[in-house]
Amino acid sequence: MKPKIFVARAVFPEVLARLEQHFEVESNQDDRIYSADELLAKAHGKHGLFTTPSEPVTAALFAANPQLKAVCNMAVGYNNIDVAAATQAGVMATNTPDVLNETTADFGWALMMAAARRITESEHFLRAGKWKKWSYDSFVGPDIHGATLGIIGMGRIGQAIARRSLGFDMQVLYHNRSRLAPEQEARANNARYVSKQELLQQADHVVLVLPYSKDTHHTIAAPELALMKPTATLTNIARGGIVDDAALIAALREGRIAAAGVDVFENEPSFKPEFLDLSNVVLTPHIASASTPTRLAMANCAAGNLIAALSGQRPPNLLNP
Ligand code: DGY
Repeated sequence: MKPKIFVARAVFPEVLARLEQHFEVESNQDDRIYSADELLAKAHGKHGLFTTPSEPVTAALFAANPQLKAVCNMAVGYNNIDVAAATQAGVMATNTPDVLNETTADFGWALMMAAARRITESEHFLRAGKWKKWSYDSFVGPDIHGATLGIIGMGRIGQAIARRSLGFDMQVLYHNRSRLAPEQEARANNARYVSKQELLQQADHVVLVLPYSKDTHHTIAAPELALMKPTATLTNIARGGIVDDAALIAALREGRIAAAGVDVFENEPSFKPEFLDLSNVVLTPHIASASTPTRLAMANCAAGNLIAALSGQRPPNLLNP
């Protein structure tokens, strides 16, 4: 008899077909968002779950489903899964690292550049029929080339962002849990390891790429924003909760920093409506990894982890210690 799985969100039909070759699949192709309690109920009788960052996978779910063997998240981030509880319950948890590094780095650049060069703000102006003349000071903002890039969270995506800065003649500062090896720093456009404070004080463009945990909650709040240059930009492609959104809104409103690019929000898909009143922020709905090839690779990576886990092999991207 095939193991039973629940696919918690809509996925590519070819990935669903691949899963159906191995498992008895119940899937949520209507793409309804399940609450933690609903997911707990859907997990009844299932050996595996295919999840995304939107599904809270809780200790209560593991306690109510002792038959569960694996939870495979279609994302590199896995703060939606209580991995400690999974480990205690003997459930394998996996993520999808690496396959999205370059696509996510591309998007970090796009968002940072759009914020700095005021692309969406000026497009709204044009679409609203307000463009009547060229002016020397219309939509001026900071430069990207020759500027200092500050990356907080220098994992594989952070390093991919740093590598791209070579073509823009930028200096790179980074802050991370630990310092990179010298050859990694060299490949990352000779990135220089500094304290968070020094990075915030010196960088012209700050990009956040660190994982969310209780230790990284509000890594950027009012005191950190106060350290930044008034001409600087802040780009968050990491997770909501890493930035104190209320503090960011206040800093943008008061012009204490120049602009921000925000792809992830505290409590998304809800977000603070005050963001919408600001013209110096570019807002996107958690799409940093959203290229078609990368999303397909992420789905296949999660499927591969699930297939390995439920056939008695060690899944390639096991998170449990
Ligand atoms: C991830 O993989 O964690 C992304 O945020 C999802 O797009």
